[in-house]
Amino acid sequence: MENRNNLTIFFVSLGCDKNLVDSEVMLGILREHGFLLVDDEMEADVIVVNTCSFIHDAKEESIQTILEMAEMKHSCRCKALIVTGCMAERYKEEILTEIEEVDAVIGTTSYQHIAEVVDEVLQGQRVQQFDDLQAMPEVDVRRTVTTGGYSSYLKIAEGCDKHCTYCIIPKLRGSYRSYSMEYLIRQAEMLAEQGVKELNIVAQETTVYGVDLYGRKMLPELLKKLCRIEGISWIRILYCYPEEITDELIQVIKEEPKICHYLDLPIQHGCDRILKRMGRRTTKAELKAIIGRLWEEIPDIALRTTLIAGFPGETEADHEELLNFVKDMRFDRLGVFTYSEEEGTAAAEMPDQIDESVKEERRDALMMAQQEIAFEKSDEMIGRIVDVLVEGRLPEEDIYIGRTYRDAPDVDGYVFINAEEEMMSGDIVRVQITDAQDYDLVGDVIYEFTE
Ligand code: F3S
Repeated sequence: MENRNNLTIFFVSLGCDKNLVDSEVMLGILREHGFLLVDDEMEADVIVVNTCSFIHDAKEESIQTILEMAEMKHSCRCKALIVTGCMAERYKEEILTEIEEVDAVIGTTSYQHIAEVVDEVLQGQRVQQFDDLQAMPEVDVRRTVTTGGYSSYLKIAEGCDKHCTYCIIPKLRGSYRSYSMEYLIRQAEMLAEQGVKELNIVAQETTVYGVDLYGRKMLPELLKKLCRIEGISWIRILYCYPEEITDELIQVIKEEPKICHYLDLPIQHGCDRILKRMGRRTTKAELKAIIGRLWEEIPDIALRTTLIAGFPGETEADHEELLNFVKDMRFDRLGVFTYSEEEGTAAAEMPDQIDESVKEERRDALMMAQQEIAFEKSDEMIGRIVDVLVEGRLPEEDIYIGRTYRDAPDVDGYVFINAEEEMMSGDIVRVQITDAQDYDLVGDVIYEFTE
């Protein structure tokens, strides 16, 4: 291990869980190179901001954070400010020319060079580090898990080939590339050794894992191998394309007890005209068929989706159709974004862009319809006995917080657990649900069944 004379690093990770995995790899590399991580930017010699550039608000947040951190170079001990991730990939020139405090920009396939770049910056250089967008670094480093230690993300692929008309991701992250299965197993084993119990499988799209590397969809096989890893108790699959779900995948979810009966299927819309304009490859009828099939095969499966409100050309009738689709489908979890016009995408060039206020009204209408469904679904949980992953304890109270298999980290609900005995974060306990409070549940630990 190299010694960097205890130089301190402060790290900000913005954007999605895929970006967070890159952050954790960078943190692992920096730690191995002898840097000390600190949680106060004022104490940092080096500040890294791993940015997002997906939609307008994400870009605003990234710029704001860079500017705040730039201040540290004037008022505190910071000697180097480094910007990485999706915004660095998209606006490298602008960032370096317009924010003079930024010393280096690193692209989305070059994060493995973070320690060398820090060294170069500290020697007075201004650095641009951009490997080929199709590069695929498999960095065998012990990641610094920032999500509580017992739950983590496993990114199984990079980039995307779907080219939905609203999405900038292929320009930021390249075409779809799967990580090798050997690499993923090594990563998952390392995470398990570090105490991770819940693995959340992520990628821009998880369902076509392996096609580029092995010539066929290998997610079911990968899942089976991950299930054999000691210490991993829950595996949760996020970012599935509905049309790519196979019988084999459904079978594995049914058969493997470690795989949560939970799927995240971002469908974006429920009206054929808009689905087509979005460049999505499914029709409403196909979506209904696959969702119906999932519920038939796995009756207790929880389905999450995300929608876009106010896509260019969306009429009041299209919106009503989507609203009815939401009411019909009764998703367990649902998030809605207003459409964000992204320079460089086909949708940004489309006529009939919708007013911001209309987009917001439509988003709110969708959320209101879903709220009713979600609250009813919470009520339906009363009386059920479910395993819950403990995440912490409410300060000064004997009440713990946890999640069921139906709740992905950060985006879904919680269970407030009454317990007679002390529990640790990461424990999985059996809980009888006694009450529902909107999106959240309340329950008591059943001790005779405690694992
Ligand atoms: Fe943002 Fe990049 Fe993720 S644009 S949403 S951080 S892939």
